[in-house]
Amino acid sequence: MKSVLILNGPNLNLLGTREPHVYGSQTLTDVQQLCERACVANGLVLDFRQSNHEGELVDWIHEAGRAQAAGTLAGVILNAGAYTHTSIALHDAIKGTGITLIELHISNVHAREAFRHHSYISPAAKAVMAGFGVNGYPLAIAGLAQLAT
Ligand code: DQA
Repeated sequence: MKSVLILNGPNLNLLGTREPHVYGSQTLTDVQQLCERACVANGLVLDFRQSNHEGELVDWIHEAGRAQAAGTLAGVILNAGAYTHTSIALHDAIKGTGITLIELHISNVHAREAFRHHSYISPAAKAVMAGFGVNGYPLAIAGLAQLAT
């Protein structure tokens, strides 16, 4: 069975208490449980992580590239948080490894402040999802499972 790596960037550890009118009231642990169920339903093994540090996210994408090349990883679902709008390093890591990656946002970033409208991740991503709330995570897992078959 292949795995799916779900990476959450800065401040997503604050889910549940962080701007609940934007991100909802479920915690990151709740999101992980949603993802566990979706992975079981789609025949995938979940690897779920969060970091507030850009370099750690870059290292994890490199690790994912090796796993995908070895045939053990279906792909990555990345909510890069604010690094979405700033990080050429994450863009280069995705391009450099050639991994299958779905960019995900809980909120509809295009309906928010102008500084959230540009993404460095989108040009390197296979697919982009935004605005489904935390239910976007299980939807992205189902989408990745479809891509992998
Ligand atoms: C986010 C949107 C980003 O603009 C923001 O910086 C986040 C979360 C989302 O999931 O909606 O941290 O990626």
